[in-house]
Amino acid sequence: MTDSRVPRRRRYLVCEPRHFAVQYAINPWMHPDVEVDVDLAQEQWQELIRTYRAHGHTVDSVQPVAGLPDMVFAANSAVVVDGRVLGSLFHAEERRPESVHYDMWFKQAGFAVHRPESVCEGEGDLVWTGRYLLAGHGFRTTREAHREAQEFFGRPVISLNLVDPYFYHLDTALFVLDDSGDGNNIVYYPEAFSPGSREVLERLFPDAVRATREDATSFGLNSVSDGRHVFIAPQAEALAGKLAERGYVPVAVDLSEFLKAGGGIKCCTQEIR
Ligand code: ARG
Repeated sequence: MTDSRVPRRRRYLVCEPRHFAVQYAINPWMHPDVEVDVDLAQEQWQELIRTYRAHGHTVDSVQPVAGLPDMVFAANSAVVVDGRVLGSLFHAEERRPESVHYDMWFKQAGFAVHRPESVCEGEGDLVWTGRYLLAGHGFRTTREAHREAQEFFGRPVISLNLVDPYFYHLDTALFVLDDSGDGNNIVYYPEAFSPGSREVLERLFPDAVRATREDATSFGLNSVSDGRHVFIAPQAEALAGKLAERGYVPVAVDLSEFLKAGGGIKCCTQEIR
């Protein structure tokens, strides 16, 4: 069974945590009085990049900018499907300037960037499943941005209501295991969603893997899958076990220092499709 899971080579966009810090609190994980160990953060992040490359993935990076401590969370800066780039408009004033730098990177890399008019936090809330964009709202990205995304991509956008402030971005409560036609599947933590949104997920993905609150609080839902390998927090042991039973290969990467800002593996990784 294990050998039936086929990885696909990915292109990831990241940003080095040179200026990473917790200087303001815009989610319940952030406490500005808690010190960040920048050297440890750098080591953990470098290990993530080495791991991606060792698994055959391409990694591009945006230059970090002083004074933008959350810029390391590349996933929030755009969502790219079929070479179409929808940029971001951050909810928090502190993060708004990040967009300028990411948009510039995309332009230099040959992509046109469509700017949203309403608050929209990229892959933090807009998750491409291979068929639809699942789209979170409730804390950051607005329903108006979901409408904009559907119009821009011409793909069905399924709005999902997030209800737990600890799981303020969709990518903290759900990730895509397999975005191919046949195997298309996700993992999610049901309690992070309103009852109606939970039902929508059950209907769309009856075979999904359900995660526990422990998996979610250790940022196990903030994982990245290439279709075979799942890059996942080592603390999410129960979830890693379930994934292995389904024939996936969990690859543990510890980004514990980033948890202090409410981020994990997926937050640090944007996929360019
Ligand atoms: N401190 C950042 C924020 O609250 C963390 C972003 C995490 N990124 C993510 N894709 N969930 O905006």
